[in-house]
Amino acid sequence: MRAAIECSALGAKTALICKSLLGKAHTVMAEGGVAAALAHVDAQDSWRTHFQDTLFGGKYLNNWRMAELHAREAPERVRELERWGAVFDRTPDGKILQRAFGGHTYRRLAHVGDRTGLELIRTLQDKGVHQGIDVFMECTITKLLQDDERVCGAFGYWRETGRFVVYRAKAVVLATGGIGKCYKITSNSWESTGDGHALGYEAGAELVDMEFVQFHPTGMVWPPGVMGLLVTEAVRGEGGILRNNQGERFMEKYDPKRMELSTRDVVARAIYTEVKEGRGSPHGGCFLDISHRKAPYVRQKLPSMYHQFKELADVDITKEPMEVGPTGHYIMGGIKVDADTGASGVPGLYAAGECTGGVNGANRLGGNSLSDLLVFGRRAGAGAAEYASRAAPPRIDPTQVENAAGEMLGFFERPGAEDPYKLHVDLQNTMQNLAGIFREEKDLTVAMARLEDLQQRAAHVGVVEGQRMYNPGWHLCRDLHNMLICSQAIVRAALLRKESRGAHSRLDFPKYDAYWGEHNIVIKKEPGGMKVQARPVVKVAELIPLVEEKKAKETK
Ligand code: FUM
Repeated sequence: MRAAIECSALGAKTALICKSLLGKAHTVMAEGGVAAALAHVDAQDSWRTHFQDTLFGGKYLNNWRMAELHAREAPERVRELERWGAVFDRTPDGKILQRAFGGHTYRRLAHVGDRTGLELIRTLQDKGVHQGIDVFMECTITKLLQDDERVCGAFGYWRETGRFVVYRAKAVVLATGGIGKCYKITSNSWESTGDGHALGYEAGAELVDMEFVQFHPTGMVWPPGVMGLLVTEAVRGEGGILRNNQGERFMEKYDPKRMELSTRDVVARAIYTEVKEGRGSPHGGCFLDISHRKAPYVRQKLPSMYHQFKELADVDITKEPMEVGPTGHYIMGGIKVDADTGASGVPGLYAAGECTGGVNGANRLGGNSLSDLLVFGRRAGAGAAEYASRAAPPRIDPTQVENAAGEMLGFFERPGAEDPYKLHVDLQNTMQNLAGIFREEKDLTVAMARLEDLQQRAAHVGVVEGQRMYNPGWHLCRDLHNMLICSQAIVRAALLRKESRGAHSRLDFPKYDAYWGEHNIVIKKEPGGMKVQARPVVKVAELIPLVEEKKAKETK
């Protein structure tokens, strides 16, 4: 939405295509706030500290230029959002209030209770619709159309009718979010099947940092129907304490300095380890307690969490602890883009947000995704508009359209086909059990073999029931294609990175490795298949003193 607003403001004829309803996005699951060094609560904060924290959180694998732009521009993007109507919580003197979050040196997260992502979406929706952007909802794109190398449009289908649609476009911006549905336990909803990652990859764009999948430390673990549903980090930001079944505040062992506000990779591993070693809660998590804070305060600052636990688990969080455990939340990896313009390596193809890689490195700090999509959404929108202003009219190749339609119709022509739901369960179990929080060579090798087997089976998936009108089973047949590409990219990169860093923990290589500390893993589609290679981290000479200062501080 932020990209579309910028595109259209710059005079480009702009269409916004949504797989789901407008505003139904994983953005709402960034509940606790948007990270921006406004310095309203802690006056010492600055873009430099935000940049340093983001690099420390990303274990220095971040694209430095992206991290710099992100930290520098986030405050203005938040102020702009406020001018467009976002109603943030306030300090007593009327400024935007900011709260603490893991890995941020200062209280930095501008927030609206625990509904910040929702407010961000509402604001952008209002702005975009009033600006006259054409919105096409419940339309899934399955193929980017290309004129030679250049992207010149997209093919898709309407969920409701199953009819096909072709968009002609001088430029396309992918902003499709993540890959959460590759995993069994996830905070993500049905839309997050890695569509943008896969569309970009198939069009020839490079993917970077795909081995880094973020498990948010706190998702619900009970009742089973809501397993994985997010419990915002804002609970810990407001003073929530984690305990095991012995009543121990176990973060003292894992990060005595930052405790519950350590980075997500550290807290997720800590909870996982406590459970594995027999100190978990009755339903396989740990306890998160905020009941020491006054009840009206909890209800005011965490209204969604209060209602979520009351209604779904019959737990009053003002009186008793929540049971929580890690949940697949976010992927740091994605389409490799130019920091300033959002351009992928493919002419006419741009990307922003979770479907890109670079800004977060090996692990994202909470709150940085909302600021990421504001900063780089704007930049990708501007990049695409500028490209479109000088691009020749797009030429659609009818053969590509026929092939794309043929692929979708083919799912109806497989008697005795594999059930896509069964295949999806097998895929999710493979990724959850063999490529999750802790990894090792033997598991990853088995995962790779299973993914190859699933790939073969995917060639036989078909529609078991129903026709083209509103048929989620049919849609899943195509979504599996994207999830398999993303899962293979994750596992291949995870096999190659023989060290532990950020969200990638190898039991067989538990330490940092000097070579890998200087290299990203880049993935590209080649005629022979998926090519995986190491590439030096993109640094910025002028920022070296800032990075060295942070490293020195953290090793003290
Ligand atoms: O915990 C949360 O509120 C999530 C925030 C994020 O992922 O940025």
